[in-house]
Amino acid sequence: MNNSLLACTFTLAGLGLIAWPGARADVETFMDLRNIAAVQGDAAAGKANSATCAACHMQDGISVVPLFPNLAGQHAEYMYWRMREIQQEARADSPMTALLANLDDTQLRNFSAWYASLPPAQHAEPARGAASHASEGARIWSEGDATRGIPPCQGCHGRKAEGHPLAAEVIRWRLVPILRGQAAAYVTQRLNAYRDGAHTVTSSARMMNGAAANLDDASIEALAKWIETGESK
Ligand code: HEC
Ligand code: HEC
Repeated sequence: MNNSLLACTFTLAGLGLIAWPGARADVETFMDLRNIAAVQGDAAAGKANSATCAACHMQDGISVVPLFPNLAGQHAEYMYWRMREIQQEARADSPMTALLANLDDTQLRNFSAWYASLPPAQHAEPARGAASHASEGARIWSEGDATRGIPPCQGCHGRKAEGHPLAAEVIRWRLVPILRGQAAAYVTQRLNAYRDGAHTVTSSARMMNGAAANLDDASIEALAKWIETGESK
């Protein structure tokens, strides 16, 4: 192949106009987020368009229905890329699919900026020190379970599930969501999906698939309860 033909082939492959030999569908749509830029948007514009969203996520981004996640105070980078993922996956079983189908990139950025700017839900301080190991959920959260190949969740999500400690300085850690106070039912559903490898479109989801792969139902239940309440039980 001469150089110009090669260049042309690369261009067409890059545009998705021809299939590169051996290309798989999931590779073509894969979003590698390891070097993302900060997500900026117009929070006021996001707010102005948020009436539809408020039906489920509420005006203040703090949901009252356990299967609808809280958005208030969540990292903009996490929310923006999750919405891109939802658009790309177009799963029939998510109400978000239809809601995001016709939104453009600017609107996604504006919503992300708006919800990130809101004060997070108030929640109980998680139990500390020795007491924080009193529940199975708290134990897996802080130590993992090495014999079962489960990593400590706090390594990425932070000791109190309030996000990675470097998130303010290093953009890529804002892809790890803040979890504190998310309802157990929502967390359970998400952990089951990661364990089943249901999401493969982003590098973030693949990383979380690995973290959830060896959780059993009892561990998921215990972790979900700890994330919701922070309680040792
Ligand atoms: C009918 C209820 C409903 C409405 C309306 C709705 N959402 Fe959602 N939203 C959900 C549900 C359910 C999920 C979890 C979906 C999933 O995991 O596929 C979700 C997930 C999300 C997430 C990911 C949160 C996370 O922690 O991963 C974001 C961001 C989000 N919604 C933003 C919005 C925005 C912006 C709007 C308005 C354009 C909106 N939602 C409207 C129900 C709704
Ligand atoms: C190696 C880093 C890493 C570890 C360890 C890790 N996570 Fe995650 N987690 C992530 C990333 C990145 C995401 C975002 C994935 C995405 O965009 O779908 C995530 C997403 C989640 C979500 C979805 C939140 C939402 O709003 O939808 C839950 C729940 C979760 N993790 C719980 C856990 C639990 C419980 C553990 C411990 C067993 C754990 N994570 C360990 C990096 C990690």
